[in-house]
Amino acid sequence: MSDLFDKIYKDKGPLGKWAEQAEGYFVFPKLEGPISNRMKFRGKEVITWSINDYLGLANHPEVRKVDAEAGAEYGSAYPMGARMMSGHTDMHEKLQEELAAFVGKQAAYLLNFGYQGMVSTIDALVSKSDVIVYDVDAHACIIDGVRLHLGQRFTYMHNDMDSIEKNLQRATKICEQTGGGILFITEGVFGMRGEQGRLKEIVALKQKYNFRLFVDDAHGFGTLGATGAGTGEEQGVQADIDVYFATFAKAMASTGAFIAADKEIIDYLKYNLRSQMFAKSLQMQLVVGALKRLDMLRTMPELKEKLWENVNALQTGLKDSGFDIGTTQSCVTPVYLKGSIPEAMALVKDLRENHGVFCSIVVYPVIPKGLILLRMIPTATHVLEDITLTLTAFSAIRERLENGTYKRLSAAVSAAVGE
Ligand SMILES: Cc1ncc(COP(=O)(O)O)c(C=O)c1O
Repeated sequence: MSDLFDKIYKDKGPLGKWAEQAEGYFVFPKLEGPISNRMKFRGKEVITWSINDYLGLANHPEVRKVDAEAGAEYGSAYPMGARMMSGHTDMHEKLQEELAAFVGKQAAYLLNFGYQGMVSTIDALVSKSDVIVYDVDAHACIIDGVRLHLGQRFTYMHNDMDSIEKNLQRATKICEQTGGGILFITEGVFGMRGEQGRLKEIVALKQKYNFRLFVDDAHGFGTLGATGAGTGEEQGVQADIDVYFATFAKAMASTGAFIAADKEIIDYLKYNLRSQMFAKSLQMQLVVGALKRLDMLRTMPELKEKLWENVNALQTGLKDSGFDIGTTQSCVTPVYLKGSIPEAMALVKDLRENHGVFCSIVVYPVIPKGLILLRMIPTATHVLEDITLTLTAFSAIRERLENGTYKRLSAAVSAAVGE
């Protein structure tokens, strides 16, 4: 037998092993000042490309006013208790009704956090005889929800229709024996690479296979579709999504989330979602703030237009400069470069210190070894100058990556961690 903590002392995990070199700079960085296109990092102004404030609502004066007024009126405690017991209000219901109408569903239910809500919704939708089929690149909240499932689960290769069909066939065979059903889960927009889930083709498979479609549209809600109702609307299949999920953490620039579906399904979930039955209700300030944000999503299309103007300018600029931005079909803008983790660290440091450009860096194990992903999130608050300065900076860092500058600068780190 060993002490439970022995393994922790020995192995900090694939990301944790970088803590000494990375913490406070590459991970857990502190961005300061009002949330916008320019913030402060270690006392210096940087162009921020790492915040999912797609529509620029986080620091919009009208939003800030409503947030402040709701804070003054309700404080941060109200309502106390879980929805089912003592934490239910007219405002919660009003927000649910408005969200449902916005995404074209009969009903909606609020979740305190997207992550827990997603885990819990998966848990509530399936029982042991059911089979889950989901994308291998699914967000951690989907993976963790699937982990709770006591029956069979199959991953299909990312957005691969052959693999999807094969796994639907396997799932169908099992359900024919168990008498269960199939829950199919995909993201509307994959948050790392920016590709849309192939909702239209997946929905077409409903003609051949019997399954229910659950879409996590965290990045699509507010950014895609004619009215901003998300990826289903963009692909013309919103009505065929059986359970729709979005978080307030991105285009809505807040905290909280919701699921939307037919009334009977939401009524069932209301009584079976453990993350909501056994946790405090979403606080009123957030509910009132979400109503305001939703109203702005509906009535201010210029926010989404500005967002897309910036997305198109950034993505076209990067492609014209010869950068590999993969196959994004959304605002999420990945830039793929080749190099080791220590090289990636030197490169990002150069970007931040010498060019004033702040974007998230994603490396192995999130993406394959040897790849560096600079993940950029354009927003409605960015201006053309941010984009031109960033493109110039990116060309400079690519040259230094290719001429071995970062390899030399990071040699000591490489030796220390054996990379
Ligand atoms: C695809 C996806 N699903 C779910 C979540 C979790 O949402 P929340 O931040 O509300 O917990 C996120 C991240 O915010 C996400 O990117």
